[in-house]
Amino acid sequence: MKAVLQDRYGNADAVRVGELAKPVPSDDEVLIRIRAASLNGSDRENLVGSPLYARLGGLRRPRHPVPGSDVSGVVETVGKSVSDFEPGEAVFGELAGYRGGLAEYVATPPRLLARKPPGLSYAEAAAIPQAGCIAYRSTRGIEPGERVLVNGGGGAGGAMVIGLAKHFGATVTAVDRADKAAFLLRAGADQTIDYAESDWAAEEGRYDRIVDLVAHRSPYRVRRALRPGGSYLMVGGHARILLATAASTLPIRWTAKNEVKVLVVPQSREDLEAVTALVTEGAVAPITDRTFPLDAAAEAFARLASGDNQGKIVIEVP
Ligand SMILES: NC(=O)c1ccc[n+]([C@@H]2O[C@H](COP(=O)([O-])OP(=O)(O)OC[C@H]3O[C@@H](n4cnc5c(N)ncnc54)[C@H](OP(=O)(O)O)[C@@H]3O)[C@@H](O)[C@H]2O)c1
Repeated sequence: MKAVLQDRYGNADAVRVGELAKPVPSDDEVLIRIRAASLNGSDRENLVGSPLYARLGGLRRPRHPVPGSDVSGVVETVGKSVSDFEPGEAVFGELAGYRGGLAEYVATPPRLLARKPPGLSYAEAAAIPQAGCIAYRSTRGIEPGERVLVNGGGGAGGAMVIGLAKHFGATVTAVDRADKAAFLLRAGADQTIDYAESDWAAEEGRYDRIVDLVAHRSPYRVRRALRPGGSYLMVGGHARILLATAASTLPIRWTAKNEVKVLVVPQSREDLEAVTALVTEGAVAPITDRTFPLDAAAEAFARLASGDNQGKIVIEVP
C-alpha cells in the first residue's frame, strides 16, 4: 500500500511517500481503508521529535514509520474477536499511539473508533477527533457569561475550543499571531490578542477559564489573570512547564480557590461521539485550512511546520 514514511525526526523533508506492506489485522483489530486524515499540533511535534514527550514513540527515530493520528475511512475486514463493527461501515477516530494514519490502510483496535455520521464527509469527520476531544474536555462546565481565554487558538485545535466555549455562552478572547485574527473571529471569538503585541497574563483578575494550547509561562504568573474561582487548563506547550505543573499536587490549588492543572485529554470513543453530536447539531465545527492529496504529504507537513495553517490541514487518500 501507499503510505507516508518518516524514518527520522526533522523538518518536512523527513517524510516521503513510499510503499509498505498492507497491514493484517489481529483478532482484536479492524482494517480500515483510509479516506481522509487530518494533522494536529501533535503531528508537528512527532515530526520534529520535540518536546521530549514526542519521543516516547522512539528516542532516536520513530518506531512506527507512518505518522498521522486522526482518520476516517471504511472498515474493510474485522478480526475474529471484534463485534462492534462490520465490514463496509464508515468510521472515524484517533489512532492509539498517534501514528499510522497517513496511509491507504491501517489496522487498529476498534475501541477509539466511532461510526461516521452520514451527514459528514470523510474530510469533515477526519478533522474532528483530537481537536474535538480537546475542545470537549476543556470547555466542560462553562457557564453562560463566563470570560474564557484561548491561548494559541489559531492552530489545529483552537477553532473548536473557541467555538464550543462560545456555544456554552462564554465571552471568548482568543490569542495568536496578528495575521490569524480574522480566523479567530470566524471561529467565534469576541476579541483577539496578538501575542507578539500584548501579554494577556499581565491582566489581573480577568478570566474565569484559560485554555492554553501553547503553555510557556509559569502557572504562578498566569494565575494572576484568573478571577476568583477561575481555572487555568494547560493542554499543550513547553514540556518543562507542563511536567513541573503535573508533578505538583494535582490539581494545584492556591488561594482564592483557583484551579491550575494540566488537562489530560483521554483518547475516548465516548468523548468523540459527544463532540460529534455537537458538530452534527451545528453547535461547533472544525475549520479546514487546506486539503492535500496523500502524495503531497511533505507539502502538508511543511505548512504545518510553518505554523501558517489556520485550522485543520486535511489529507485525502484517493
Ligand atoms: N493534554 C492532552 O491530553 C493533549 C492531547 C492531545 C494533544 N495535546 C497537545 O495540545 C496541543 C494542541 O494544539 P494544536 O494542535 O491546536 O496546536 P497547533 O496547531 O500547533 O496550534 C498552536 C497555535 O498557537 C500559536 N502560538 C505559538 N506560540 C504562541 C504564543 N506564544 N502565544 C499564543 N499562541 C501561540 C501557533 O501559531 P504560530 O506558531 O504560527 O505562531 C498556532 O497557531 C499540542 O501541543 C498537543 O501535543 C494535548
